[in-house]
Amino acid sequence: MANSIGQALDRVDGRLKVTGAATYSAEHKIENLAYAVIVPSTIAKGRITSIDTTAAQRVHGVLAVLSHQDRLKLAKSPKDIQPGSPADRVLQLLQDDQVVYGNQPVALAVAQTLEAAQEAASLVKVHYAAAKPSVTLDRPQHDFYVPKKMGGPGEPPDSNRGDVQAGLAEAAAHIEQTYSTPFQHHNPMETHATIAVWNGADKLTLYDASQGIFGDRNRVAELLGLQPDDVRVISLYLGGGFGSKGPTWSHVVLCAMAARHVNRPVKLVLPRPLMFGPVGCRTETRQTIAAAAKQDGSLTALRNEVLSHTSTFDEFCEPASIPTRMLYSVPNNTTHQRLIRSDIGTPSYTRAPGEAPGTYALECAMDELAYALNMDPLELRRKNYATEDEDKKLPWTEKALNKCYDLGAERFGWSRRNPEPRSMRDGNHLMGWGVATALYPARRSESSGVARLASDGTVHVDAGSQDLGTGTYTIMTQVAADGVGVPASQVVFRLGDTRYPATPVSGGSQTAASTGSAVYLAARALREKLIQMAIADSRSPVHGARTSDVEIENGRIGMRGDAARSETLRELIGRSGQPNVQGFADTKPGEEAKKYSGYSFGVQFAEVRIDADLGQMRVERMLGVFNAGRILNAKTARSQFIGGMVWGISFALYEHSVYDERLGRVVNNNLAEYHVPTNADVGTVDALWVDDPDDRVSVIGARGIGEIGITGAAAAIANAVYHATGKRVRDLPITLDKLVSS
Ligand code: MOS
Repeated sequence: MANSIGQALDRVDGRLKVTGAATYSAEHKIENLAYAVIVPSTIAKGRITSIDTTAAQRVHGVLAVLSHQDRLKLAKSPKDIQPGSPADRVLQLLQDDQVVYGNQPVALAVAQTLEAAQEAASLVKVHYAAAKPSVTLDRPQHDFYVPKKMGGPGEPPDSNRGDVQAGLAEAAAHIEQTYSTPFQHHNPMETHATIAVWNGADKLTLYDASQGIFGDRNRVAELLGLQPDDVRVISLYLGGGFGSKGPTWSHVVLCAMAARHVNRPVKLVLPRPLMFGPVGCRTETRQTIAAAAKQDGSLTALRNEVLSHTSTFDEFCEPASIPTRMLYSVPNNTTHQRLIRSDIGTPSYTRAPGEAPGTYALECAMDELAYALNMDPLELRRKNYATEDEDKKLPWTEKALNKCYDLGAERFGWSRRNPEPRSMRDGNHLMGWGVATALYPARRSESSGVARLASDGTVHVDAGSQDLGTGTYTIMTQVAADGVGVPASQVVFRLGDTRYPATPVSGGSQTAASTGSAVYLAARALREKLIQMAIADSRSPVHGARTSDVEIENGRIGMRGDAARSETLRELIGRSGQPNVQGFADTKPGEEAKKYSGYSFGVQFAEVRIDADLGQMRVERMLGVFNAGRILNAKTARSQFIGGMVWGISFALYEHSVYDERLGRVVNNNLAEYHVPTNADVGTVDALWVDDPDDRVSVIGARGIGEIGITGAAAAIANAVYHATGKRVRDLPITLDKLVSS
């Protein structure tokens, strides 16, 4: 099929973005717009005893200062809503005096200007009866509970096969260690932003920075008592999402409530500090792993017991145990997940939820086991290669991880590694090399799309969907081009509007496989119609031909292998008198989804350089090699992979939302103190891939690549730090104080 697919096509929206012409959610020009600013709670647990809005009301230009005292009406209490999708969260919508986390919205100032709204918000006086919050995993075991199910597609929280005790007993070597990962808050460049515009009492348009416009539409409609069709959500461009914009959060509904109250369109943009609390986070995790093997390296037992947080009012379980269940071949395997209720905003999906912390712990444990066995860590992984999903007892849709290991080892120069810790030096710098496996599930959901040939010969394709900045506009353009048989330059692809055909949330790395399949099949349906139209058209060069003899290529329809007998699609539709011809597709995963287990795999190599005296660290070099089905665009794919890997550097060495244990609030809720790597912190990062199409996951062979790049990355770096220093830090981030302390 491929012509356009796979090419390193520049982003079709690149020019719009660099010239500022791409309209992000907060940038829509709306008449008579008012501005809302949230007053966040300054305590994490307790009750509001009184709110004094007198001074705030006096600010010039203020339209309303809203709190629970105003008893704004909802069609349903947020507490009574049953989740319709795994991304549905329980919201705080000024309905009562309860405070359940720090930075919870407790009031809202609405004014004619942003400045007036900010001033008014700063003058709202909230008095609390504060209780002592808890945000720690250091709690007695009986405080933890078994979750109903885990985030993602809802795997069970516990798994078991074989007999781990027996496996441990028969081993020649075993390790048991606890690995900790900290709270992290996703901070896309674009913070959350919503503009709510009412048209009468029952029609609402939301310009919303959303990764899932249909879920957003349904959630808002339910809470406000509207028909879903009466809510239109538009999300044309996103400045990143990483999972934070997957669920609908409180501010979206509050913005619509405020707009209804003041009877004007209202814009609400979250300032950076409010990214820490009301819009999800990656929970802290503590994973206790036991790993055991015979002298030849074959695993006899693997166990992972995971502790993580949820909120007091909602449940989200970070599925960190998944990699331990299925990544390696091992007869005795058990995992469990336990949750603690903490006084925090509900944790939620954060890039590679589960797999990111899960691969960190498992892949460090594998490194420790390799050292205990005196075996090369890459060899240990090859030795325990899983040829099927032993947890689900299903064959893989397609797996080429061995090819990734081979290619990666060769390109990185792994055979030149001296396994001895502290053995590779460069002057006063300790050098270390580490390796880890990467993986992420291949997800796909029902999705639809429509393709039309316009009278000028242009192919117009629409599908709801979203582009987080990942390149969705571009890959869909390529997929549609190949589906019809036209150059990509002849395709106009639109997304980000609930008036377009329904599509899933852009989460779980599923957009390419889900919406890509719909777009491809809609394009094929259009192609089919055009071929039939031409065959029936007495003036067409293919008039009367057999279907199988007709082809559309490069925008021309003609007899296969006979360029002289062809014409442009524009000529064909021009004669037809029809304004356009249309193909539609509504697709969902086939039976294959039940018969196979779909995962993408990869390998991460890292080189670190550490000052022997001061412990200062730098990741000099990273190489990731991925097996993720057909790669749709070599350029945007590379960006996705290396972007994920850079977040892996961040995960290993920098990111940490620090809670003040007394207040239950994040101390470093800004980008000055919430550390992420800058360009100077990132050495050479490269990504390669094994381009094996996976036709069992999608008709276009794609599996999706948004999340796999971060997986395994932190472990590769942590393992490299051990190799460099001989010191095993099992508590991320690895900061220099942890390295120099004894
Ligand atoms: Mo991703 S965390 O599923 O947006």
